[in-house]
Amino acid sequence: MDDFDLTKLLDKPRLTIKRERSFDERSLSEMSLSRGLDNLEVAYSPGGRSGLDTPASSTRNSFEPHPMIAEAWDSLRRSLVHFRGQPVGTIAAYDHASEEVLNYDQVFVRDFVPSALAFLMNGEPDIVKNFLLKTLQLQGWEKRIDRFKLGEGAMPASFKVLHDPERKTDTIVADFGESAIGRVAPVDSGFWWIILLRAYTKSTGDLTLAETSDCQKGMRLILTLCLSEGFDTFPTLLCADGCSMIDRRMGIYGYPIEIQALFFMALRCSLAMLKLDSEGKEFVERIMKRLHALSFHMRSYFWIDFQQLNDIYRYKTEEYSHTAVNKFNVIPDSIPDWVFDFMPTRGGYFIGNVSPARMDFRWFALGNCVAILSSLATPEQASAIMDLFEARWEELVGEMPIKICYPAIESHEWRIVTGCDPKNTRWSYHNGGSWPVLLWLLTAACIKTGRPQIARKAIELAESRLLKDGWPEYYDGKNGRYIGKQARKYQTWSIAGYLVAKMMLEDPSHLGMISLEDDRQLKPIIKRSSSWTC
Ligand code: GLC
Repeated sequence: MDDFDLTKLLDKPRLTIKRERSFDERSLSEMSLSRGLDNLEVAYSPGGRSGLDTPASSTRNSFEPHPMIAEAWDSLRRSLVHFRGQPVGTIAAYDHASEEVLNYDQVFVRDFVPSALAFLMNGEPDIVKNFLLKTLQLQGWEKRIDRFKLGEGAMPASFKVLHDPERKTDTIVADFGESAIGRVAPVDSGFWWIILLRAYTKSTGDLTLAETSDCQKGMRLILTLCLSEGFDTFPTLLCADGCSMIDRRMGIYGYPIEIQALFFMALRCSLAMLKLDSEGKEFVERIMKRLHALSFHMRSYFWIDFQQLNDIYRYKTEEYSHTAVNKFNVIPDSIPDWVFDFMPTRGGYFIGNVSPARMDFRWFALGNCVAILSSLATPEQASAIMDLFEARWEELVGEMPIKICYPAIESHEWRIVTGCDPKNTRWSYHNGGSWPVLLWLLTAACIKTGRPQIARKAIELAESRLLKDGWPEYYDGKNGRYIGKQARKYQTWSIAGYLVAKMMLEDPSHLGMISLEDDRQLKPIIKRSSSWTC
């Protein structure tokens, strides 16, 4: 708080003050973080919801909405998918110019999240409810890949509605990995489903959906998959490559940060929604134990900053027994050169992966932002992640927010790690490409850490290109300057991500839907950087 200058704040136009006040109110209302459904009730603030009209922003605030907002809403609505007359989701991309549709005409669970948040923020929760129920039904299907039966709790990566105009019937086909390119498992789908169920509950105040026996069972089935005991020596979740937003081979197998952060967040969301009946109670106990171990593991071993890097650089190897400092036997020679230059004196981040003798030092956007939102990152770590954004703006944001990961892998390493994937060449797609959808996560993290000016800067960059370029899926190049080689246009989550970022910045009380307060923090302390008012 030392460098927080109130006089500067008062010089700002009224709107800024209004925004900051609503953020403080949100923090205060969430202070009493007792577990259970009461928690959701306490935090529900109908006043925080946007109005029913689209776009909500045009009516409520004193400033002119950006012309892109109306266009974005039109495009988002065009992407709606109906099942028997009810909207149940949005397709991944509405790109008529593209010859290859592949599976971009499907409703992806992860892609629908920003759409869902946009609809919730705009006071249109029905589609979100329909989506949650439809995917829950799909979870109940028997899932097979060849002769292998998948876990009961698995949620689909995507689904498609088939309309038969003659018979006037709608049917659904779903993909749990058995059709996906590379047959990859969508580990993130179940986590997003739980996170979205909480967002819906929190935004509407409607506890009845989460309380239904179907939703309770759905949650327990997802949790069964990720809380089962095995040979693990770590509390993190072991995953195959391509298990998340990065759904192709990219060397993220093992314990990828993206999944660990979503896992942590989904566990915390479940804790707030599980009923304390005999079945629920057992899960609550297991979740508490896992959260305790998981947060310790992640905060200690995945975290890196200047000091930590220096310590690893000086590690001794081949240590045995409990006294080992270098527990995973990481060989300092394996630290890539780039990380020494990339690491600022001030700032830090959660690295991509940690397992025996393997630290993947790459920085991943989604994992780090979700770590902030779920409070997996301590307040100090959250602030350090934002410091890194400021210190490494050129690298992580450049001309289009934001890089999916940094840096790209090239040459021989690219051959080995990606299996020569032509879509994932250096600085393209998942390999250091820039993804506009991540703007909403960055914005949410900025608001949470009290750094809205960073989000504003990123949104301005996006506004200078997104509409003009036709809402591409991703951008290529070291600075994210070129529309991605094979990027779809009118990619729905690029559109929805922008809308969510705008709506959150305008009314930061929306943040509560997608953010969890630090469970140890009982005082409403908001750490503001010196750049808070810039
Ligand atoms: C690509 C992305 C994946 C996304 C899908 C649909 O496969 O890697 O994250 O869900 O496209 O947009």
